[in-house]
Amino acid sequence: MTQDELKQAVARAAIDYVVEGEIIGVGTGSTANFFIDELGKIKHKIKGAVASSEATAARLQSHGIPVFDLNDVSSLAVYIDGADEITPQGAMIKGGGAALTREKIVASVAKKFVCIADGSKLVDRLGKFPLPVEVIPMAHAAVARLLSALGGEPKLRMKDGQPLLTDNACYILDLHGLQIADPVALEGQINNIVGVVTVGLFAQRGADVGLLGMAEGVKKFTY
Ligand code: A5P
Repeated sequence: MTQDELKQAVARAAIDYVVEGEIIGVGTGSTANFFIDELGKIKHKIKGAVASSEATAARLQSHGIPVFDLNDVSSLAVYIDGADEITPQGAMIKGGGAALTREKIVASVAKKFVCIADGSKLVDRLGKFPLPVEVIPMAHAAVARLLSALGGEPKLRMKDGQPLLTDNACYILDLHGLQIADPVALEGQINNIVGVVTVGLFAQRGADVGLLGMAEGVKKFTY
């Protein structure tokens, strides 16, 4: 199976977690996009969705799925999203698609986080994938100095020769070369740096369920 076929398989499996008549929290990225396409097929069964990015909102709308503002929703039964890395304990690195802050916000309102990913994302220790940190633009150099002190090498994420701007008009620092032994502690430590909006560690609130696409089929993990 190709990586895209594995992503498609987990996207299909995630439909079992969609609660009928509810508003669904939807993540961002290529795996989430496959999920949105599956959700489009059963859109008559749900009330709508809350999107974790402008890109996801546009894709949901292209399928005719109503997109709700999070401020108009008091709780979500489920949030379904991909990951860049996930441990056997359900801690994740996210933000490869620069949507980490909205992802973390929407996930925080959901009762259940279902992570969908191809099996290559499963790691024993987080950190091979550069850790994204969303920062206030005026603080990026100051934050980068403090992140360097943690032992990693922060690099400002660029697009078309300019710093990439997130949906929140902020920048992303990608922290390379970290071996993350204690993701819960590091999440708190980085979030405490003044100028940091969000770190792409999802460990204090990790996934509740993982659906990982392997050659032998979709493997389910509960954390
Ligand atoms: C988006 O900001 C990310 O958190 C994605 O969820 C993550 O990068 C996974 O993306 P893919 O599904 O494209 O691998």
